[in-house]
Amino acid sequence: MQVALADSPLTELRADLHVITLAAGAELPSEYTSAPGAADAESGFRKLAMLRPERPERLLVVGIGNAEELDAEKLRVLAALVEKQSRRYEAKRIAWDLRGLSNPTAEEAVAAVTEGLVMASFRFDRYRSRKPDDDPAPALENLELVVGEASEEASGTARRALVASEAANRVRTLQSLPANELTPSALADRAAELADRHARITVRVLGREEIVERGLGGLAAVGSGAIQDPKLITLRYEGRRGGEVLGLVGKAVTFDSGGISIKPSVGMHEMKMDMSGGAAVLEAVAAIAELGLTLDIVAAIPATENMPSGNAMRPGDVITQLGGKTVEVTNTDAEGRLILADALTWCVREQGADRLVDLATLTGAVVVGLGSTYAALIANDDELAAQVTAAAERTGELAWRLPLHPEYKKLTEGTITDLVNSSAKRKAGTIYAASFLEEFVDERPWVHLDIAGTAWDVGRDYVGTGPTGFGVRLLVELARSLSSA
Ligand code: BES
Ligand code: MN
Ligand code: ZN
Repeated sequence: MQVALADSPLTELRADLHVITLAAGAELPSEYTSAPGAADAESGFRKLAMLRPERPERLLVVGIGNAEELDAEKLRVLAALVEKQSRRYEAKRIAWDLRGLSNPTAEEAVAAVTEGLVMASFRFDRYRSRKPDDDPAPALENLELVVGEASEEASGTARRALVASEAANRVRTLQSLPANELTPSALADRAAELADRHARITVRVLGREEIVERGLGGLAAVGSGAIQDPKLITLRYEGRRGGEVLGLVGKAVTFDSGGISIKPSVGMHEMKMDMSGGAAVLEAVAAIAELGLTLDIVAAIPATENMPSGNAMRPGDVITQLGGKTVEVTNTDAEGRLILADALTWCVREQGADRLVDLATLTGAVVVGLGSTYAALIANDDELAAQVTAAAERTGELAWRLPLHPEYKKLTEGTITDLVNSSAKRKAGTIYAASFLEEFVDERPWVHLDIAGTAWDVGRDYVGTGPTGFGVRLLVELARSLSSA
């Protein structure tokens, strides 16, 4: 899809769907009052009216409710409703008049509408031999946003929103792919593709043998039960060359059966999405490279299946993580922290990361605690936490901070080892996992995002059920805010 900003009145723009908004207490602009259907226009939030539906240049009136209460998130939702109409009427070119909104700012509005339209247009139909009858329309090609005199910032914002939401949709495809297709090697292939496409990205992949040799004991242990080769995927993006290096780490368990501590069968198929953090990191780096943002990044994505087998790690096994800390594996289903621990150490000690952000579908406890509305954010550094929170608020990929405390850390202490990977007490599961990870960040500023509840089945209009691509837009926005001028 293409996005452009325009200064001319809607009537002068060629499109097969024109969109205007109507706020509570406002009148329809006089040029439209005589259009067929004008009497049906309603101003309530989410109310839609299609004027002159028979004409090729249809006009959709979108109710926004109280103009003062309109915000970016509501605009994402409204854009999703518009996308649905565009499909119904087989429109490929949309022109949307965003002038005269009192909230949010023009820049925010441009980003939100772009994000909502692009994300709502996501489909995953590669395994359908026949397309659903109610979904025949071809994809949107063109979006023109009328904002009056477009500032340079606003066009930059529109482009970032487009690139980031298209990257989020690629993550949603990766999330949707079943584990028999999206293996750790398939993910590594995708990383290699990115390095081919972008001159400033380089990639390095370690396979089972090197993972074992180099002492990544957590990744080796989790991968030991699988026939599929585990991979440590490292991407470097050089957008500035010199200066601080942002480390991004993403959990990529391409299927989490639980291992020997096997999960119940109900819903287990959805554990193909346990690679959501890794995929988000991968495609965020691609988007950042496409936008040419000026910062340096190292991304580490530990990718593996977690499977039961004669080779699998057992409850009670003792492993040595990269860097030397020992862990008793009390539950093989707490595998994410084992692979992330190695990846965090790898990022700091071998790749020179100065600060760290990790994304992981890490705990069921976060789904219980925060549902699908907020990811959990846990950090050892207030400044980085504030930067991530700000990016989260700007993109609507919300994150709520939970605390660290020595009493939680105590729960992670082993009896015969430095650490245990889970505790029978079942206290504060999300914080427990983060406290475990904190042992591996070498006191670097670090933010952990537990996205187990937000990566899947959020049910907002622009993501619906299934994969959400959570984190890509947040990471691109964070990278923008950390970029040097
Ligand atoms: N991948 C799961 C967490 C998860 C749960 C992701 C729901 C998405 C939706 C993780 O590996 C896991 O199994 N965590 C365990 C940890 C426990 C054994 C300490 C959990 O949360 O139950
Ligand atoms: Mn698990
Ligand atoms: Zn998992």
